[in-house]
Amino acid sequence: MATERTLSIIKPDAVAKNVIGEIESRFEKGGLAIVAAKMLHLSREQAEGFYAEHKERPFFNDLVGFMTSGPVVVQVLEGENAIAANRELMGATNPKEAAPGTIRADFAETIDANAVHGSDSPESAAREIAYFFEENEICPRG
Ligand code: TYD
Ligand code: MG
Repeated sequence: MATERTLSIIKPDAVAKNVIGEIESRFEKGGLAIVAAKMLHLSREQAEGFYAEHKERPFFNDLVGFMTSGPVVVQVLEGENAIAANRELMGATNPKEAAPGTIRADFAETIDANAVHGSDSPESAAREIAYFFEENEICPRG
């Protein structure tokens, strides 16, 4: 077990539903600490760059449109095995397949508007954290 950081985004659908606090609570109760956070309304360019790995996928344009449709909360979560722990708390990409009690099962209905993003590997976590945060904007819990 190792302390890790992961990049989390509370997506526009969840912000619009006013469940930021409920989602943050899932992370905190799940053993993850919020060590950096900001609310942003992503530009098209920011969303395209963030999701560059998906640019050849058929859903890319709709994904960018959705991610720029309203404000998001971008944040860094820290804790033991944070990358996998966050993915576990989030649930499957498709909320219809997400395990009961996960964030996506409880706060999302469709695959394209699925409440949260979480890094999927140490490499993507490092890239995604650096995409939104300077090191001095992150406050480790110690
Ligand atoms: P992906 O990285 O596969 O999922 P996850 O967010 O669980 O890591 O896809 C990124 C986002 O793209 C996903 O959260 C929602 C959107 N998406 C679709 O709209 N349709 C799809 O078929 C897939 C696979 C993803
Ligand atoms: Mg992904």
